[in-house]
Amino acid sequence: MLSPLASDLGVQYLLVAAEQAPSVLNTQPWRLRTSGHDVAELLCDPSRRLRVSDPRGRSMHLSCGAALFNLRLAIRIGGHRPAVSLLPDPEEPELLASIRMSESTPANATERSLYSAIRVRRTNREPFEDRLIPPSVMAGLRIAASREGANLIPLDGESAGELLEQVGMADDELGGDRGYLAEQAAWTAGRALFDGVPRHVHGPRADREPSPVRDFGLGHRERNRRVARFESRPQLAVLTTRGDRPVDWLHAGQALQRVLLMATCHGISASFLNQPLDLRDMRRRTDPRHARGHAQMIMRLGYGPVVPRAPRRPAGELLLRDPRERDRLMPLLRL
Ligand SMILES: Cc1cc2nc3c(=O)[nH]c(=O)nc-3n(C[C@H](O)[C@H](O)[C@H](O)COP(=O)(O)O)c2cc1C
Repeated sequence: MLSPLASDLGVQYLLVAAEQAPSVLNTQPWRLRTSGHDVAELLCDPSRRLRVSDPRGRSMHLSCGAALFNLRLAIRIGGHRPAVSLLPDPEEPELLASIRMSESTPANATERSLYSAIRVRRTNREPFEDRLIPPSVMAGLRIAASREGANLIPLDGESAGELLEQVGMADDELGGDRGYLAEQAAWTAGRALFDGVPRHVHGPRADREPSPVRDFGLGHRERNRRVARFESRPQLAVLTTRGDRPVDWLHAGQALQRVLLMATCHGISASFLNQPLDLRDMRRRTDPRHARGHAQMIMRLGYGPVVPRAPRRPAGELLLRDPRERDRLMPLLRL
């Protein structure tokens, strides 16, 4: 079977899979470089790192880790085996992963289902039903996280309540930080064509505080925003890793995407409440929960309605290749 890198269409198919990944404020901070027909390289795009809320580049690495998981799946669907080496070159820290492809067995049923979920998965900031996620499904999500070297810790009612309080306090503190508000506004108000979080995906304002969804209107109060009643007991889970270095963030991103895609296969949606983690990074605070691992994502899971899609950049923008080859590919990649 031909390597996906052997044809323009194959490369396009990898790019389209990668760019569907979730990313912090939809910054899509990834790039793909090809090297011959066997190796694809995933790089971050530091110009898209959030200077205020992501000083260490943690969220940028997580986002790229999620894109890497999609790439791995797309390569498996093409009947190849991706051998991934993370941060392979200390001289080039922007190079996050090198993926060598070799012919292998056809994708199995799980890989095919996860791959089909890539296009359907969305961050869902609408109210969820008051329906509990069955323990067997939650156990499957925990296994998914551990397969990628992370931990998914579901919180019981009391712990979820405490964490929501922390989220509320973090929101209050962030609400007084001008730099943060300006950065949030730059990525959430107005941008709509290719990146950022446009209004049509913000969801309604919650009828109570602390809000179980992140309110992107903090820096630019939105007029006439819908108010809705949210589920009475949000089901929260924290994704953690043992370490807290770039390599751990890449594992966390891959774990995040495996969990989200598996959740999607079960009809479960997710949104995120990472305000305490942003504050931790911004103020260089130690992680209060690090005894149970370093928290990387705070997730709200449940059964929600269908929601619109957030925009994506044209796939061709993500490709780093010989400029002449790039020009040849551009018309194909304007999706
Ligand atoms: C590292 C990371 C952090 C995120 N933090 C939040 C968050 O705190 N609140 C939120 O509502 N969405 C959060 N998101 C979701 C992004 O906003 C979302 O992925 C992006 O807007 C693209 O939309 P999509 O997931 O529907 O494709 C986060 C995503 C990533 C990867």
